[in-house]
Amino acid sequence: MTDDTKTSNAMWGGRFAAGPDAIMEAINASISFDKRLYAQDVRGSRAHAAMLAATGILTNSDAEAIGEGLLTVLSEIEAGDFPFSTALEDIHMNVEARLKVLIGEPAGRLHTARSRNDQVATDFRLWVRDQADAAITSLTALMKVLVAQAEKGADWVMPGFTHLQTAQPVTWGHHMMAYVEMFARDRSRFEDARTRMNECPLGSAALAGTGFPIDRHMTAQALGFDRPMANSLDGVSDRDFALEFLSSAAICAVHLSRLAEELVIWSSAQFRFVAMSDKWSTGSSIMPQKRNPDAAELIRAKIGRVLGAAVALFTVMKGLPLAYSKDMQEDKEQVFDAADTLMLALAAMTGMMSDLTVNTAKLEAAASSGFSTATDLADWLVREAGLPFRDAHHVTGALVALAEKKGCDLPDLSLEELKAAHPALTEAVYSVLGVHNSVASRQSYGGTAPDQVRAQVARWQGLLA
Ligand code: ARG
Repeated sequence: MTDDTKTSNAMWGGRFAAGPDAIMEAINASISFDKRLYAQDVRGSRAHAAMLAATGILTNSDAEAIGEGLLTVLSEIEAGDFPFSTALEDIHMNVEARLKVLIGEPAGRLHTARSRNDQVATDFRLWVRDQADAAITSLTALMKVLVAQAEKGADWVMPGFTHLQTAQPVTWGHHMMAYVEMFARDRSRFEDARTRMNECPLGSAALAGTGFPIDRHMTAQALGFDRPMANSLDGVSDRDFALEFLSSAAICAVHLSRLAEELVIWSSAQFRFVAMSDKWSTGSSIMPQKRNPDAAELIRAKIGRVLGAAVALFTVMKGLPLAYSKDMQEDKEQVFDAADTLMLALAAMTGMMSDLTVNTAKLEAAASSGFSTATDLADWLVREAGLPFRDAHHVTGALVALAEKKGCDLPDLSLEELKAAHPALTEAVYSVLGVHNSVASRQSYGGTAPDQVRAQVARWQGLLA
């Protein structure tokens, strides 16, 4: 078996006199990476063999020998005791060739009514489906950690930013729950993608279906798919499931990068809003004072790889004629790398967020500076003195300018100074100039008031339970 693969291929040697050039073999082989599909390949082949027996295409004894032999192959691979061969190109031919060594003649009957085209489409779909499940699980774990952070800090006041300039006070809980919403959308994207990908290509054969009386519903069911794919050309040439996985992964990686960036900013000496635990920090070999947020920086960067994988596969698939083309072998490494990257980034973010220390005094001090309650002052003038908002905005702007000139904040201005800007201003306005009153007043649905945040926390605790 191993020797004659060098001269002419054992799988199609019938019409080939000579084996491939070494460089041809190098560019053609995928075993170095598609060996990762071994469990899916064995599973798919076992389902196929059982179906061939049930439909009378194979004898029961051949199908049993194949099924048993495939389990031996599986345990050999799992034990790290499998002779992978580049000459045998890919995982499908490696498994089949080994089966031949193990059980002899019946192995040659396994490939009846199937092709590597529907085989690889099935294996890869099963693999991506597992990854979608893993992403859903990891995102759920991250969301739980963020909801717990939000519950703890439902009324911790911090500056809310626009343009990274202090805008209005918000609560820590509100900020955390914003990410819960983002990761929830990511999770539902993976769920959607999983639902759509859950159709079975097996039995599409090379491209046109087969003349054998196969039962595609049976294999689809055995492999946990909802149904067989309805068109054999589409069955072997579709990689939407991988594109959807990568697209969902890329959006998720964008969200991770935004939270990572905030952690980098917040943990800097200039902010000190948060401190990463020792477990999630690194030191500097030269500067003893340093405590670097490397994990956050790396998560911030990982979007490059994930989006790169998505762009690469979109580019591979663009313009490919139906049905299978070897170009599609280029689908796997991208998805493997993106999936590994995403799972690692999600796990790291979950770990970092679960033992993050929040400096609530720093948060509050920062929230109270930068004229963060200027909008509250303008709103007060509208509400209590009936000013049009534009006029109120103007009066407040003048007071901000005055405070800036004096080097103080809005609550530090005297009542005389306020009244000089507008006579309707009274002692009562000071109540809205405090950051706690400011956030408590933002009771609109989805607003930052601690009551609203607690309501969202409770909703998500129910959904994530
Ligand atoms: N290694 C191939 C791939 O990943 C399997 C399918 C090969 N099919 C073929 N007709 N050459 O796409």
